[in-house]
Amino acid sequence: MDIANFEFNELHLPSPTEEIFDECWNSKGIQVFVKRDDLIHPIISGNKWRKLKNYLQTFSFSTHSGLLSFGGAYSNHLYALAFAGHSLGIPTVGIIRGEELTAGSNTYLSQMNSWGMQLHFISRTDYRSKPIPSAYENYAVIAEGGFGELAIQGLENLVSELPVFDLIYTAVGTGATAIGIAKHTKKPVIGVLTLNNRTEIEAHSLPTNLNIEDAYVFGKYAKQNDELDLFCAEFYQKHGFPIEPIYTGRMFYALTEHIKNGHIAPNTKLVAIHTGGVK
Ligand SMILES: Cc1ncc(COP(=O)(O)O)c(C=O)c1O
Repeated sequence: MDIANFEFNELHLPSPTEEIFDECWNSKGIQVFVKRDDLIHPIISGNKWRKLKNYLQTFSFSTHSGLLSFGGAYSNHLYALAFAGHSLGIPTVGIIRGEELTAGSNTYLSQMNSWGMQLHFISRTDYRSKPIPSAYENYAVIAEGGFGELAIQGLENLVSELPVFDLIYTAVGTGATAIGIAKHTKKPVIGVLTLNNRTEIEAHSLPTNLNIEDAYVFGKYAKQNDELDLFCAEFYQKHGFPIEPIYTGRMFYALTEHIKNGHIAPNTKLVAIHTGGVK
């Protein structure tokens, strides 16, 4: 699939890197840069393009009928896949967790449906085994959250767009983004967990420069927390662009605490990845 035109005409690549200022780090001579992958596209935003690009690029109608993947009722990954498939003329299928749902259950699902994604709703029990309906056996499968070797390879472009830096911070869900970044740089990468999945993440063969930080999950995945919400609101006021509490909020919170606690050496130049997710 030739996606060069799509990248050139529709996406903001390379995404900009901007420095943000705060007494907390400027007083220590630490510089914080943000890789604004959230600006790549309003829908295929943040790490979504990085992770999906190689699946779309290597897709061929000579071997597969379309692309199939898995996710919950609000999956950013499926939403991006549905839009990409619609834009590039690739049929897509979403296997959705929750048999009680329909295409009209939320605006996400109805939009994905209108982009032509075939939605299949299955029970939470069945979802665990990630079944592929027989009608779609000829579809290329992308794992839940976009995790996979092609996704990991897709992070090479992000790393090649970065300025010179000492340390990098990124949020971890499936781990594809953090592993992909760490694989393409020799510099240390801090992957901030957003769910209690250290064991699953460490079951992958992790690059030795990837350090997993698990102290900022705030209970469990996506759990609302007033302190975190306030942190995100104040971040927006100070720096002029939004972050959300589930991924980038937890990551920036961890980064700020690490600086406050003296875990980051003075004069370090660090880059935080804005992986998108702001709705
Ligand atoms: C906004 C945002 N940031 C970070 C992540 C975590 O990325 P990964 O699953 O590659 O670890 C996700 C999940 O895909 C996400 O939606």
